[in-house]
Amino acid sequence: MIDEIISSKDICKLIISVLKLEDKRLMDHGRRVAYILYRMLCVKGEHEDFEMADLAFLGVLHDIGAFKVAMGKEMLEFELSDPMPHSVYGFFFMKYLSPFQDKARILMYNHVDYQQLLKVDFDEKNISNYLNAAERFDIFQKSMGKKFDVKNLRKYEGSKYSKETLDILEAAMDKYNIRDKFDSGEFENELDELFEGILFSDKERERYIEMLMYISGFRDEYNVINTVTAGYVAREIALRLGGIDSEQLAMLHFGCLIHDVGMLIVPQEIVNAPRALMPEEMIILRKHVESLEIVMKDRLNSKVLSIAMANHERLDGSGYPYGLKDEDMNILQKILMVADTVTGLTCDRPYRPPKSKEKVIAILTDEVKKNKFSKEVVATFIEHYDEIMKVVKERSEDVLKTWRGMQQQYEMVAGRLVKGFSR
Ligand SMILES: [Fe+2]
Ligand SMILES: [Fe+2]
Ligand SMILES: [Fe+2]
Repeated sequence: MIDEIISSKDICKLIISVLKLEDKRLMDHGRRVAYILYRMLCVKGEHEDFEMADLAFLGVLHDIGAFKVAMGKEMLEFELSDPMPHSVYGFFFMKYLSPFQDKARILMYNHVDYQQLLKVDFDEKNISNYLNAAERFDIFQKSMGKKFDVKNLRKYEGSKYSKETLDILEAAMDKYNIRDKFDSGEFENELDELFEGILFSDKERERYIEMLMYISGFRDEYNVINTVTAGYVAREIALRLGGIDSEQLAMLHFGCLIHDVGMLIVPQEIVNAPRALMPEEMIILRKHVESLEIVMKDRLNSKVLSIAMANHERLDGSGYPYGLKDEDMNILQKILMVADTVTGLTCDRPYRPPKSKEKVIAILTDEVKKNKFSKEVVATFIEHYDEIMKVVKERSEDVLKTWRGMQQQYEMVAGRLVKGFSR
């Protein structure tokens, strides 16, 4: 089933383009660092191709924690002066919410000095150290240009970096003309080719799509809560409507997971505005659907994307982005539309308390009268309201427990580690 939803070769591209929505500069840095790491591993010569590709992909995502903890900060600032929070957050994010569990620790230690690494019991600490040197090289070459030489890092040999790390970094720079390839952009093609060769298992692919959903929570935790909740509401309605097979259920599930990924482009002040939005803010908000289309088109199954995209359409043609009408849409699109509205009405937001059952039913009924929502979808939901909401609450609490557990562990460990390792 997952084969029809996303192919292995599109996974890396998809994740990278989603993260670019949030911060292009950070992803460009990630790609350059990944390329340096990959070429260092080539010099080292101990890894199979697929292992190098995996590690390079981890390299692209190495600053994923910064999307959360260093949002809006200058890159040099979070990398150089206080790097532990983003390393630790990156570690927890990858460990709990990505298929990279076993490799996540590399990120935890990628800003820890070699001398301190020696005291840590961890098999892949050399990779952490390679990554550390690779990213430092990229930051300096970006800010100082050609004036920066890898040899400048030698003064940290034995303290920040091992001799081996610096030897292979220097060798890789020469052997693969890394600087020229950065200038010409050629490294991009080599990296894409490397990633296209990775074979992700079904489970991994599923986890990556889930990861995209968690990424949308970087900017606003409610995106995660809402998406998870809307997914279960949609599923429970679909099960009770009848006539929906397991393949359609899976499409609905994935469509729902990604439907608000585009929210990464919407500033927090707009998402959480405790008032009606101004027309120009509305335009920005609405762009989240187009962004989704831009990053997912031709990569994700088109039926799944069409479910996610239709979320703000309405049967009378008054919705966006395309003003689709009843006859243009299928039942799965109509289900998600209702499920997401129900979620919005029943979720607790800082600027709006949840609505009562009576109020929710009144609003939905009114929308059906105005020909906004499908009559049968709303009728099914209202008929099974309590039952559906009970299942939804239980299920979403499980998922959110993992999410919140991760946040708590991060807070705890970050506090402890920052004291121990920060420079
Ligand atoms: Fe970093
Ligand atoms: Fe970095
Ligand atoms: Fe949306």
